[in-house]
Amino acid sequence: MNITEIIEKKKKGAALNKKEIAFFIDGVCNGDIPDYQISALLMAICLKGMNREETVNLTEKMAHSGDTLDLSGLSPTADKHSTGGVGDKTSLVVAPIAAACGVNIAKMSGRGLGHTGGTVDKLESIPGFQTELSEADFLKQVKAIGIAMIAQSESMVPADKILYALRDVTATIDSIPLIASSIMSKKLAAGADIIELDVKTGSGAFMKTKVQAIALAREMVAIGKAHGKRTAALITDMHDPLGTNIGNNLEVKEALSVLRGEGAADIRELCLNLATNIIALAKSIPAQQARLLALEAIDSGAALTKFRQMVAAQGGDVRYIDHPELFEKAAYSRTVCAPQSGFLTKMDTALIGNTAALLGAGRQKKGDAIDFTAGIIVHKKTGDAFKKGEALATLYTNKKDILTQAEQQYLSALRFGAKAPRYHQLIKEGII
Ligand code: URA
Repeated sequence: MNITEIIEKKKKGAALNKKEIAFFIDGVCNGDIPDYQISALLMAICLKGMNREETVNLTEKMAHSGDTLDLSGLSPTADKHSTGGVGDKTSLVVAPIAAACGVNIAKMSGRGLGHTGGTVDKLESIPGFQTELSEADFLKQVKAIGIAMIAQSESMVPADKILYALRDVTATIDSIPLIASSIMSKKLAAGADIIELDVKTGSGAFMKTKVQAIALAREMVAIGKAHGKRTAALITDMHDPLGTNIGNNLEVKEALSVLRGEGAADIRELCLNLATNIIALAKSIPAQQARLLALEAIDSGAALTKFRQMVAAQGGDVRYIDHPELFEKAAYSRTVCAPQSGFLTKMDTALIGNTAALLGAGRQKKGDAIDFTAGIIVHKKTGDAFKKGEALATLYTNKKDILTQAEQQYLSALRFGAKAPRYHQLIKEGII
């Protein structure tokens, strides 16, 4: 077997067998296949696609390319994954709700890049919070309190790190089999019994259309099930930022308000739906019953207590959980005002995420430092009416000199009109 033949085969649109996929991933990981041949095969997959069996085999081989976690002694365990969006702080809410309902959460998360935020950065904005735990400490914490959230281990799924870095620079990101195998290999390696996926669609999402989002969700759910995992997905809206707050400590504050039973309707509803699915899958109960348990976990304060326990266990200062007003604030702010009266008809949410990054909340490239206090509070979203001069958003930063550029960029992400636009349904579809 040689890699040129495998590239040739995929170029012609034929399906690769398990041995050929294994040969490719082994060669990627041990350095035998040079970047130009890896990239050629990635492009062929991007153009010709993969059938379900190929994608399942690719995912499995990638998942076992490095360390894997054994959570079998902790069942039921659940993991949740969002395909990325702006203002998406759902993991900070859903995980403690599920844990308060008796589902163990052993969650590994990523950092933000480009216009999207990452759960690890948000957690690290809580002073003292440690996201790097040894595997033994991570598992010990889940056993003791039912929840731990840490950064993805460097030694897991090395194949994805190599492939993703090449996809990023060879225009081969937007391929359903490559995205599905990349995400699901990390979920399989992380070992949970239940995988709940939140596949975003809209201007702030990877998948710009609902059709693409459904295709990706179906592929990922099928991969999970083929590996014996209870897997489900929601297709959810990302035409607007989720909730009101964008930026790390701003998002933690908003997550805390949802855990207190407050918060904007969209973020609260999405969190309840995701938690409901996890609880229903874990306990094999109807969704209606699971939703009541999720609501009870919020209303009783049990979910907030779970979050507080996790923060304490991971070295975070719980005074910030009890008194979110203690979170440090950015030195400068600017209110973005409506240039005319009317309705907000459209938001370019990726551009809004990039504006938050410009203010200091995100990074343009891996390793960039971020400012936990920077970000945006959104006052008006698609469909809202306002008068000229009314506040549309408030920008927060420690970089005074970029405020005017950020204000102009934020305004350029908005479209105004005289009539209310079509409503974007928050939860578009469930895939099981
Ligand atoms: N997120 C991932 O982890 N991988 C992809 O390919 C796309 C989004």
